[in-house]
Amino acid sequence: MQILRSNAELSLWKAAHPDCAFVPTMGNLHEGHISLVQQARLSGLPVIASIFVNPLQFGAGEDFERYPRTFEADCGKLQSAGCTAVFAPALEDMYPQPQSYFVEPPALASELCGEFRPGHFRGMLTVVLKLFNLVEPRVALFGKKDYQQFALIRGMAAQMNLPIDIRAGETVRADDGLALSSRNGYLSDAERREAPRLHQQLKQIGEALALGRRDFEELEVQALDALYQHGWKVDYLSIRRPDLSLPAEGDAQFVVLGAAWLGKTRLIDNVETGPGL
Ligand code: PAJ
Repeated sequence: MQILRSNAELSLWKAAHPDCAFVPTMGNLHEGHISLVQQARLSGLPVIASIFVNPLQFGAGEDFERYPRTFEADCGKLQSAGCTAVFAPALEDMYPQPQSYFVEPPALASELCGEFRPGHFRGMLTVVLKLFNLVEPRVALFGKKDYQQFALIRGMAAQMNLPIDIRAGETVRADDGLALSSRNGYLSDAERREAPRLHQQLKQIGEALALGRRDFEELEVQALDALYQHGWKVDYLSIRRPDLSLPAEGDAQFVVLGAAWLGKTRLIDNVETGPGL
């Protein structure tokens, strides 16, 4: 596996690998990231992963500085997973000048997580577009764990005519249901034991919807109460359509999304439900 530290090294690699499948990450890799690499390999193309903690998508007071950086271990995991190259640019490579051009996201970027992380999706879409332009992949993979992120990237690729096949990977979970996340490492032992409740509540709503319940607000409030009672601070809990628009009674397919804090750690998760999902 080749480690590419700069745009110049990436250019050389691309000359030898003109078509590739791409898995962008911020590092501190776990089985969720690795499952995307494995899915990327199914394309038959050489797989390149990126590791770059993007300051543009972190708000003031968020965890940019303390975000875990575990480059050596990450490279070991990528190599074992059959990755062909890892692109790990320095900050000066991604941002040789202060970034003053941005992707202007649609209204969806101000809802759900966007309501609580202003500017996050603008910074995320901007770096993803920059990475796409540098790597020029045929295929790019993103996890459904970050459902809203995936929806926005897919929308950007479609509306900006990016010649990239954007694919989704299923959420990888611990045995107790907790979605794997780099931020799980922030949890204390007691918080870690409590953490699966978010998924449990989302799943319960999903099951109620599958049984035909359509009292969306009531379902949301019940789950909110259950989380509050166990010490969570909930940012949002929302039943949506798979395209993240608001649902109607006649709908059959839903995604239930939530973001909530356990102590100083913000966790997000979602559950899809309905025929074909
Ligand atoms: P990061 O949080 O490192 O995630 C990289 C990719 O791994 C994303 O597509 C994310 O959805 C996926 N992922 C994370 N946890 C997962 C899990 N438990 N199961 C399956 N996939 C999972 O998301 C980002 O980085 C950044 O915003 C990025 C797109 C790289 C832009 O900076």
